[in-house]
Amino acid sequence: MEQEKLLSYKGRKSGRPLSKAKNEVLNKILKTNSVTADKINSNFFFNRSYYPLSLEIGSGSGEFIVSEAIKNPNKGFFAVEQYINGIASLSSKINQKNINNIKFFPGDVTKILYLLPQNIFDCIYLLFPDPWPKIKHHKRRIIQKEIIDIFSKLLINNGILWFVSDDKDYCRHTLLHFQKHPSFKWTAQRREDWLLKPKTWVDTRYEIKAKKRGISPIFLKFIKSKPL
Ligand SMILES: C[S@@+](CC[C@H](N)C(=O)[O-])C[C@H]1O[C@@H](n2cnc3c(N)ncnc32)[C@H](O)[C@@H]1O
Repeated sequence: MEQEKLLSYKGRKSGRPLSKAKNEVLNKILKTNSVTADKINSNFFFNRSYYPLSLEIGSGSGEFIVSEAIKNPNKGFFAVEQYINGIASLSSKINQKNINNIKFFPGDVTKILYLLPQNIFDCIYLLFPDPWPKIKHHKRRIIQKEIIDIFSKLLINNGILWFVSDDKDYCRHTLLHFQKHPSFKWTAQRREDWLLKPKTWVDTRYEIKAKKRGISPIFLKFIKSKPL
């Protein structure tokens, strides 16, 4: 499938205008921590002192990746987010906490998925990806066969993909896709394995929203058990 046909993404790219101060921090951090598609293509963007690498797609305001980066100062973290207000919030956190082990791509993930080096990530996080509930919009979901093939290539052997959502239909869709896929295995053995998240994880903004509505998110953990 051609790259531009991979996903027909129609989500928000910007929201409220940024304050002058937030804009200044954003521009500063864009220079030091963001990567452009051509840089990904030619050479990878972390020096080898940060290893292994994890990828978060749709990092929102960045609370999860920032918390993980602080807890794991020797690991490298790569965030992809196309909502500029989210990138601005992530940049403020990077700036305030002086974080060196996060790089990010401020744009649509489908523009770079093909460019990322293979066998490089030990973990991919998809935390509350847009559920696109209407059937006619399911083609916009990030979980589809062609993208799972790419996830398999990006992950090292025994690498982990986390999919977290408060949308039961999207979880069902995801389980069906991964169970059919030759490269991945669902790791759950008992109910708690998909009802509870690792104890060290912080709540993301969308997780807090779900809990306020009385909905318990579902945590699906898949392991790359075989290369494609
Ligand atoms: C529902 S929000 C969840 C944000 C965050 N992970 C959380 O749990 O609070 C989904 C995020 O994915 C981002 N997103 C959706 N499609 C994307 C794409 N194709 N490329 C990059 N980011 C995308 C949206 O902009 C949004 O910030």
